[in-house]
Amino acid sequence: MRGVRRSAILLGFAALSLAVIADTRQPASMAESLSTQEHVKQPGWWPTKGTPARGEYAGNAACAQCHAALVQSQQQHSMARAAMPGRDSEFLKNHVGAPFNVGANRYEISKDNSGDFRFAATDGSGTASGPITWAFGIGKVGQSYISEAEGKFRELRFSYFRSLNGFDLTPNQSLMKASSLDRAAGRIVSPEEIARCFGCHSTASTVAGKFDPAHAIPGLGCEGCHGPAAKHVSALLAGDVSGLHQVFNPRRLSPAGQVDFCGACHTTWWDVTLHQAVGFANVRFQPYRLERSRCWGKGDGRLTCTACHDPHKALVREAASYDSACLSCHVAGAAVKPDTTHIASACPKAVSNCVTCHMPKYLVEDMHFEYTDHQIRIVRPGEGFPD
Ligand code: HEC
Ligand code: HEC
Ligand code: HEC
Ligand code: HEC
Ligand code: HEC
Ligand code: HEC
Ligand code: HEC
Repeated sequence: MRGVRRSAILLGFAALSLAVIADTRQPASMAESLSTQEHVKQPGWWPTKGTPARGEYAGNAACAQCHAALVQSQQQHSMARAAMPGRDSEFLKNHVGAPFNVGANRYEISKDNSGDFRFAATDGSGTASGPITWAFGIGKVGQSYISEAEGKFRELRFSYFRSLNGFDLTPNQSLMKASSLDRAAGRIVSPEEIARCFGCHSTASTVAGKFDPAHAIPGLGCEGCHGPAAKHVSALLAGDVSGLHQVFNPRRLSPAGQVDFCGACHTTWWDVTLHQAVGFANVRFQPYRLERSRCWGKGDGRLTCTACHDPHKALVREAASYDSACLSCHVAGAAVKPDTTHIASACPKAVSNCVTCHMPKYLVEDMHFEYTDHQIRIVRPGEGFPD
């Protein structure tokens, strides 16, 4: 790991951190970008939009009839399992009957007769317990838990972290004291916030304007990005090729639009700027960081999210496999001069593994994980995290 170790306390798994500092690195493509709230208000599909009816969604099994290979490979992406019923969590299963401490409190996971997991939280005054209804996150970094009881949603105070292979404080609760037994159990999440959690972590959780997790497709299915596609399916099954136009293809967006598209959940430049979220926490907001790089220029299709990440395949971990993206613009080797296709200069230091030096990783302490900074740049020794 390079650079600083800092804690992004205000930024949980979920929330944006709030602070005030003016941004000096405004991308030239700013005018082509919008906040997610604005995108969602426009006509047509946008991820997290909750207006289509449940019946407009067909589900992944329908897509598999014609896009079998894509359906299979997309299952390998973390996004496909970004939320699941609590009973499907391996981490909970592996920790049944093994009590653990987080802060001053003691917790235990158990399994009831129907196979569902429950939690019990104990402090000096007694024990509170409840069902663990949902697990959020495949657990690459960690997994958080939602308990749903009597129409209320609670985010439990403990989360699983892979690097610990155990539980610690849920990031956005680390500043809140567990002043009561109720608090020791977790944080009551407002109806608006819980709908947003499901909006980014599942498909079709809000339909016809109404949030109902019971009807959600857990995790990000095809239609979480491509929008409801029942019409596309029925038309093509009937041999009507006009159905090709009845599904959203983000490839047709401008480069800035494509980055905003992923930013519907990964946070756009405007989402960060309007919330005045600054500081180390924004290392997690890749669209914002990327568009602040000199490489981004006025917005270039060779540097959209999909230039490096196929959303239908598992994340690639080998640094060298990202070289081709860099070398689509940069010339390789000091002897070669930039031209109209390769517009950017060569590296005086190396010819491969570009991201290891120019996209450093930073440990976010609350998350117990090193995130990749998407602000591509020359990293000077001893320099802090550039805001
Ligand atoms: C009856 C066969 C069939 C089914 C079922 C089907 N598709 Fe398609 N789809 C096609 C064909 C054929 C194309 C055009 C060739 C291609 O891009 O693969 C296509 C193209 C697409 C495109 C690109 C469209 C464009 O404008 O470029 C998307 C996105 C898509 N399908 C998504 C889905 C999703 C999501 C589902 C499931 C809800 C689904 N499809 C189910 C046959 C089908
Ligand atoms: C509807 C919300 C949503 C949209 C839209 C979205 N993502 Fe994600 N993405 C998520 C969530 C949630 C996770 C965390 C999944 C997990 O680990 O449980 C994630 C994780 C990822 C990861 C990390 C994978 C890993 O294994 O660590 C990558 C890479 C990624 N997304 C790329 C993209 C790209 C590229 C796009 C645009 C084409 C995109 N995402 C659009 C919600 C979304
Ligand atoms: C605006 C969209 C958005 C909202 C709202 C949101 N998340 Fe996420 N979440 C993401 C994305 C994108 C990632 C992956 C990238 C990252 O970690 O920054 C993620 C990652 C996670 C992870 C780590 C996943 C893993 O596999 O390691 C957990 C756990 C999580 N979120 C839980 C929650 C919970 C609980 C809520 C609600 C209280 C919530 N999130 C609300 C978009 C969102
Ligand atoms: C995280 C968002 C995301 C998810 C989930 C997702 N896609 Fe895509 N899909 C995209 C993007 C972005 C593109 C445009 C790719 C590009 O520009 O290279 C695309 C393109 C496509 C295309 C057209 C291919 C082309 O060459 O234009 C098809 C077909 C497709 N997706 C089907 C699916 C199916 C089927 C699923 C579910 C298994 C799925 N997608 C899940 C984001 C997503
Ligand atoms: C020039 C290549 C490149 C581009 C463009 C790019 N990424 Fe990444 N991304 C990477 C690399 C490299 C990693 C680290 C992979 C690893 O080591 O696990 C990464 C990791 C991630 C992760 C996993 C969490 C982390 O911090 O390691 C997410 C989520 C992600 N990218 C989302 C996005 C989104 C959203 C976009 C578009 C705004 C994007 N990326 C654009 C190269 C890129
Ligand atoms: C869309 C084209 C494009 C892509 C893709 C691209 N760059 Fe750049 N990059 C540029 C341009 C243009 C500049 C500024 C002029 C120059 O350096 O020639 C630049 C500048 C840089 C700089 C100097 C930054 C500074 O602050 O002075 C570094 C380092 C760099 N790029 C590394 C990379 C790496 C590493 C990748 C892949 C992860 C990458 N670039 C991908 C176009 C691109
Ligand atoms: C071992 C670390 C390392 C790797 C790997 C690396 N670079 Fe660099 N790069 C540097 C350093 C350090 C500098 C600053 C050199 C200086 O200013 O003296 C630099 C400078 C640059 C510059 C600015 C050049 C200029 O004209 O100012 C670009 C562009 C660049 N690198 C692109 C890349 C690309 C593309 C790759 C992969 C093919 C790459 N780098 C791989 C360390 C690395």
